[in-house]
Amino acid sequence: MELLDKLNWRYAAKAMNAEKVAEEKIERILEAARLAPTSSGLQPFEIFVIKNQELKEKIRPVAWNQSVITDCSHLLVFAAWDTYTVDRINYMFDLTNEIRGFKNEGWEKYRQMLLNSYPQKDAEENFNHAAKQAYIALGTAMVGAAYEKVDCTPIEGFSVDKVDEILGLREKGLRSTVLLPIGYRKEDNDWLVNLTKVRKPMHHLVTVMA
Ligand SMILES: Cc1cc2nc3c(=O)[nH]c(=O)nc-3n(C[C@H](O)[C@H](O)[C@H](O)COP(=O)(O)O)c2cc1C
Repeated sequence: MELLDKLNWRYAAKAMNAEKVAEEKIERILEAARLAPTSSGLQPFEIFVIKNQELKEKIRPVAWNQSVITDCSHLLVFAAWDTYTVDRINYMFDLTNEIRGFKNEGWEKYRQMLLNSYPQKDAEENFNHAAKQAYIALGTAMVGAAYEKVDCTPIEGFSVDKVDEILGLREKGLRSTVLLPIGYRKEDNDWLVNLTKVRKPMHHLVTVMA
């Protein structure tokens, strides 16, 4: 199947059948998310993979009681940094130097520029910026899932405060941003599965300026 066929096949599943997804597939979907580009390469988020059924049962009522939360195989929680700190910025720059095996003057100047701006900014503004980066990883993970012929449902319909509390995210300097149950569609119980995909026409989306 070509990529576009797979993207047409994917949809936001409304019902899943509780079948387990092979760990190798989950690993490749997570690797796709890890490879997502982020602003300055900071990757300002973490992903929690919930396999534990009791935890899923706790989250479902605070996520509009959506059945895919409990009937999925793995529930991914994308949690963005609550702010940018000196330590968080230095970690990624040090990691880059370590992996590439050299220090670069331009890169170090760029580090200083970020250190002199992000940590001084309002935490809410920083969180919003970090959350945008988490969404890029969400999109990449969803494409990865479609590639693996695995279903998923992006979910914003949940109480951020309650999910943060259940998973103890605030203590870790994180805030839940978006959920992604991963599993297999339950075709006989899903009102959406056979409906035609609706997207606005290309000319309403794209303006070419030649
Ligand atoms: C950020 C985001 C949040 C969403 N939240 C929910 C949700 O809480 N519950 C749900 O059933 N669908 C949710 N959706 C699914 C969208 O409604 C769906 O992707 C859209 O209608 C397009 O349909 P398709 O994905 O089936 O092609 C969300 C999608 C995105 C991208």
